[in-house]
Amino acid sequence: MNETPLDVACVVWPHGALATLVARHDVVVCSASLAAEESAVAPALAVLDANERERFERYENAAVARRFAVGRLRLREMLGTLLAIPPGAVPLYIGLHGKPSLARGSQPSRLRFSVAHCEELLLVALSHSGEVGVDVERIRPIERWARVADRVFGATDRAAIGREIASGEDPSTVFFRFWCRGEAELKAIGSGIAGVTARRDGWHPTGLRVAELSTVPLPDDVPSDGVRYQAAVALCTPREASGSRSSAETSQASPPRITPTNASTA
Ligand SMILES: CC(C)(COP(=O)(O)OP(=O)(O)OC[C@H]1O[C@@H](n2cnc3c(N)ncnc32)[C@H](O)[C@@H]1OP(=O)(O)O)[C@@H](O)C(=O)NCCC(=O)NCCS
Repeated sequence: MNETPLDVACVVWPHGALATLVARHDVVVCSASLAAEESAVAPALAVLDANERERFERYENAAVARRFAVGRLRLREMLGTLLAIPPGAVPLYIGLHGKPSLARGSQPSRLRFSVAHCEELLLVALSHSGEVGVDVERIRPIERWARVADRVFGATDRAAIGREIASGEDPSTVFFRFWCRGEAELKAIGSGIAGVTARRDGWHPTGLRVAELSTVPLPDDVPSDGVRYQAAVALCTPREASGSRSSAETSQASPPRITPTNASTA
């Protein structure tokens, strides 16, 4: 059984030492802002590929469309930096269940990434170690959290949630901690919503580790007054295949090592 905690570095994009950090840590989580003037959209679209521009055109809500265009530009900037190619040349591929990745064959790279957004906040998890997944939510009151929990979480998670709330923890905070863990796992696996039932029924790939991030560094123009975000990152590393364990064991694993760093060198 491998209980090595995930080694996660959290930074705000742009960051001058991204490549160094990704080489040193299991996962780097990059926060970026999706806030932008409408005038920023056209330059972003000029960098996106034809599929992305087509998707942008389908959005009826201008703010959602703008966040998509800016988010894809930021993602391409990060990946382009790590691959040493221009953002517009990053070959993005969308898998069967919607997981974006680097197109195989066109880039001989072990680089994996995952994307999550919440309002004006974008998180991108980057790793050379394995398939990665990230999720972020703004902690907010959830009226029927128990009903949602019954639908998406297995018995072990539901019992753990119940225990934490009974011990006085804020129900919304506990709910979103478990929610983000689940979403990060599903994104690392790549199944998206199609994997919810299997996960709830206890299916768990070998080598999957999760780190909860109760704080992430925020870009200056992402609202932070009275706002709390919960995030999680998951990493699936083949070398831990011998360490198969249940989801119950995973949730009791050692806490992650998290390095918040905004320094331009590391
Ligand atoms: C689609 C899904 C990825 C959720 O997305 P969301 O929470 O609405 O939005 P997020 O911002 O967190 O993530 C969206 C990003 O995930 C990525 N994504 C989409 N499908 C994915 C998949 N199958 N695997 C990995 N990543 C995926 C994309 O990059 C997407 O951003 P983009 O469209 O701008 O490229 C999926 O996990 C889902 O719908 N889950 C169901 C909800 C649920 O029941 N969860 C149970 C928790 S235990």
